[in-house]
Amino acid sequence: MAAPEQAIEALLLEHRVFPPTEEFRARAHVTDTGVYERARRDPEAYWAEWARELEWFEPWSQVLEWRPPHAKWFVGGKLNAAYNCLDRHLKGPRRNKAALIWEGEPGDERVYTYWDLHREVSRFANVLKSLGVRRGDRVAIYLPMIPEAAIAMLACARIGAVHSVVFGGFSAESLRDRILDAEARVLVTADGGFRRGRPVALKEAADVALRETPTIRHVVVVKRGGGLDVPVRMMEGRDHWYHDLMAEASAQCPAEAMDAEDLLYILYTSGTTGRPKGIVHTTGGYMTQVHATTKWVFDLHEEDLYWCTADVGWVTGHSYIVYGPLSCGASVLMYEGAPDWPDRGRFWRLIEKYGVTIFYTAPTAIRAFMRWGTDWPARFDLSTLRLLGSVGEPINPEAWVWYHEHIGHGRCPIVDTWWQTETGAIMITPLPGVVPTKPGSATIPFPGIQAEVLNNEGQKVRSGFLAIPAPWPSMLRTIWGDDERYRQTYWSKWPDIYFPGDGAKIDDDGDFWLLGRVDDVLNVAGHRIGTMEVESALVDHPAVAEAAVVGRADELKGQAIAAFVTVKEGVEPTDTLRKELRQHVAEKIGAIARPDDILFAADLPKTRSGKIMRRLLRDIAEGRALGDTTTLADPAVVARLKSEYEEKEG
Ligand code: WT7
Repeated sequence: MAAPEQAIEALLLEHRVFPPTEEFRARAHVTDTGVYERARRDPEAYWAEWARELEWFEPWSQVLEWRPPHAKWFVGGKLNAAYNCLDRHLKGPRRNKAALIWEGEPGDERVYTYWDLHREVSRFANVLKSLGVRRGDRVAIYLPMIPEAAIAMLACARIGAVHSVVFGGFSAESLRDRILDAEARVLVTADGGFRRGRPVALKEAADVALRETPTIRHVVVVKRGGGLDVPVRMMEGRDHWYHDLMAEASAQCPAEAMDAEDLLYILYTSGTTGRPKGIVHTTGGYMTQVHATTKWVFDLHEEDLYWCTADVGWVTGHSYIVYGPLSCGASVLMYEGAPDWPDRGRFWRLIEKYGVTIFYTAPTAIRAFMRWGTDWPARFDLSTLRLLGSVGEPINPEAWVWYHEHIGHGRCPIVDTWWQTETGAIMITPLPGVVPTKPGSATIPFPGIQAEVLNNEGQKVRSGFLAIPAPWPSMLRTIWGDDERYRQTYWSKWPDIYFPGDGAKIDDDGDFWLLGRVDDVLNVAGHRIGTMEVESALVDHPAVAEAAVVGRADELKGQAIAAFVTVKEGVEPTDTLRKELRQHVAEKIGAIARPDDILFAADLPKTRSGKIMRRLLRDIAEGRALGDTTTLADPAVVARLKSEYEEKEG
């Protein structure tokens, strides 16, 4: 197993360069590097030009008002995100174009044209209104990957309600905490969905959350259909079937004129404390940057069929399944389930069946495909593909090259896109028609975006921390209900410079190499998990006295979760308890946070001031020689732990 240092070395020994092919360049939107210079000279004029591709009900009076760390973009402008994703396209030839092509895991299919989607969204917007939802109210959405997820989001946007989508894989407790933090008034959920052939019961989990969410007045429940059979209890007066309400609702619903800075959504993400942060995104700047990046990064053309494999519960699903592609008038493929159901050819079968041209996925998925072997993709016709994308974590050069060869057949450029929930949209990425790519490098900032690599003192260095020194349109505006935490987390490392929490290097060509998180945030299979969240979940168990959680390198998932647990006096540290603890974390947070390793430790390595030395725990979990242990209160503790860990692994 590669230790991160080795992985990073491998990354930096990578010298292959893949310039755009002539064939790709010939039709690309951007073929001239002049755009970078133009954007640099006058970023505000450049972003205003992009904003004008959207339809505004009222113009803005000022492009940017920057009072660090708070930005306002397109001040005074009025627009509606759903209107820009739907109504704008009804006026021309896109009206009957497929907006959403959906396939469920069992193979059921639905297609919505732009006009269809407009009707469904308008109907659901009226449903929300009939349930008392007003501008600015929060609506929680806890759904599987079904079209109703996009419909519910856009319906909120249409009436100016703020959606908070909670990933369907999160536990009842996680849902409860997010509902409470946002004080959501309505919850939209489903009886369930499918994952690897098994039904996932969502309403049942929601019911557990709903016992402690007094702010929720109404629950709308989508019936997944397609043979799904999970029991659902409906509470009279509170719970309503989606199809019943939709049957009564009018398909006429005017889009509210929202201020550019009105909230579009809140999306929770993990930080360095036990409490997730509600990342706040607003309307005008967000829509402008997701529109721009979708069009240029994916080189989106009218006849493309675009597929992003993310879940709508993550920011990638928000920006690059719903808002960006629909704003561009694209045809979007949406798939509900797992890549290995009913077999490991499912993704490639979907690409062949629908003729996908643009495919955007995560390195962890690519590494799984590699492991499953080249025979699977080789069985299918992937010749419609013309562009591949990667997002979520650093892509190792080996996976990049495999993706290029076995999926792209050497023909498709790969866009490795660096961004975050907080940035809202892609920040560092090649433009596929002009920027030569290197396996493992996200290359350069998107035109109009600035990025630097700084040290702790804020000096430019070749290797250090990624930094964003200027505001960008789709930046988070604050953390919901906690502006102080917003300042502390992102703006306190350097004055007026955004700190994303990633390590980075910059090479001789000025290309960026992202090196992973430098804080206590893990990236497990592209999912962001706070070590503190997992620690709190463990300590919540009655048998646990203390817990320390670290990430260790994992070939498939990027990082795996290693937990060091001290049990209370008199508790027997057994295998059964280990299983119980893993299950406990899954129930508290969600299956994605279930620890991979649990080591029972009599003591944890601490400094004399009592601070747990995670660095040493990482050394242990990754099988490295122990670093400096001189500051430890009791150096014997760590040596003992190391041999115990090795014994367990061996
Ligand atoms: C973190 C953000 C962006 C949407 C999905 C994840 C890591 C993301 C890349 C990339 C290297 C990447 C960073 C970042 N990350 N994309 N192309 N190369 N690292 O969003 O859950 O907010 O996580 O994912 O560490 O900080 P997120």
